[in-house]
Amino acid sequence: AQRKEIDAVLEPFLLSPETLREVKNKMRTELEYGLKRETQGSATVKMLPTYVCGTPDGTEKGKFLALDLGGTNFRVLLVKIRSGRRKSVRMYNKIFAIPLEIMQGTGEELFDHIVHCIADFLEYMGIKGARLPLGFTFSFPCKQASIDKGTLVGWTKGFKATDCEGEDVVDMLREAIKRRNEFDLDIVAVVNDTVGTMMTCGYEDPNCEIGLIAGTGSNVCYMEDMKNIEIVEGNEGKMCINTEWGGFGDNGCIDNIRTEYDKEVDEGSLNPGKQRYEKMTSGMYLGEIVRQILIDLTKRGLLFRGQISESLRKRDLHGLNPQEVCGAVSRRAAQLCGAGLAAIVEKKRENRGVEHLQITVGVDGTLYKLHPHFSRVLQETVKELAPWCDVTFMLSEDGSGKGAALITAVAKRLRNIDK
Ligand code: BG6
Ligand code: GLC
Repeated sequence: AQRKEIDAVLEPFLLSPETLREVKNKMRTELEYGLKRETQGSATVKMLPTYVCGTPDGTEKGKFLALDLGGTNFRVLLVKIRSGRRKSVRMYNKIFAIPLEIMQGTGEELFDHIVHCIADFLEYMGIKGARLPLGFTFSFPCKQASIDKGTLVGWTKGFKATDCEGEDVVDMLREAIKRRNEFDLDIVAVVNDTVGTMMTCGYEDPNCEIGLIAGTGSNVCYMEDMKNIEIVEGNEGKMCINTEWGGFGDNGCIDNIRTEYDKEVDEGSLNPGKQRYEKMTSGMYLGEIVRQILIDLTKRGLLFRGQISESLRKRDLHGLNPQEVCGAVSRRAAQLCGAGLAAIVEKKRENRGVEHLQITVGVDGTLYKLHPHFSRVLQETVKELAPWCDVTFMLSEDGSGKGAALITAVAKRLRNIDK
């Protein structure tokens, strides 16, 4: 009888192939809404233009600073790129902590802290005097009007600093640099981590036209044909679109597969009602879903002899790891992510007008890299749901900072041509 009750609790986490196909189709619909002028305003998958119009070609060169904010680690990097036949990239980086009270304090405090870390790094590398070009990986949704402007649409994941939403994060960084009045930098590009990852991998494999993050958060970018991007002028060539697919389902379109546990997690989060798909598929939330299930199983007397222990009462559960529950939750996460990715590769295939598509997806994120089964289940799901696409998954070894530096190199060259 107990077995049956546990099975019943976990049953809604088992998704049939038909359900996954449905998820793929719904994702496809939402992607299209985000690209169309009339529907774009209310779209939950925002499909943000990035003003990155090509992948690396090996001619990028120079010395750059990069910032990488929004994943597990905040990093400052120095990236040296050599072009030509002996093209190479050398990187030096330092990881800094961002205390919780800064992540959720005021915007000014957050940016002052960032600039403090940059100062520390410049000092450490002995390069304080050089006015280096900087590429800013900022892993949150930004509305861009050019490569060096990005208005924060809304915080996601664990950030909630005040007075930032609706503001240009490049301006905020510039102002914080001015306030410190200790060094100067030339901020050339603001880049989402998906885009940085796609570029990092694109440097090795020109067929890499998709970037996937399965980490603290979940998101995808891909190269879209300009003629399909209605809100950007021009019909020639391609532009990278930051899908912000974490917001998929915020209009209720996947409520049929959301469980009571998903709803609890959403309601207890920093951004209730938002990023519903992200909350079912990314590292920041999976442990919390597991905890909700364990509490329920315990209340039903099926676990821990009905005693809700101190460690279970707290958020951020550590130590308890009943495998079955974790397996069901992470498997569903990988399958949902795979269903979303299947929609993207299918779209790419149709764009190219080919029967069979060969494409590389650059991937980063601790969930993908460290979880024992996530990557395999994700890949199996894509294969199953997009059988006409031959997808190569390329792990990003160098993080998104390298890609941000490559983007900065190109943007700087183009800016100089324009002048
Ligand atoms: C890193 C990238 O390697 O992966 C970051 O450099 C990115 O830009 C991160 O945000 C995503 O993974 P996680 O698990 O740290 O959120
Ligand atoms: C969140 C952010 C998104 C980022 C992703 C992965 O979904 O909104 O911009 O790419 O996390 O870090």
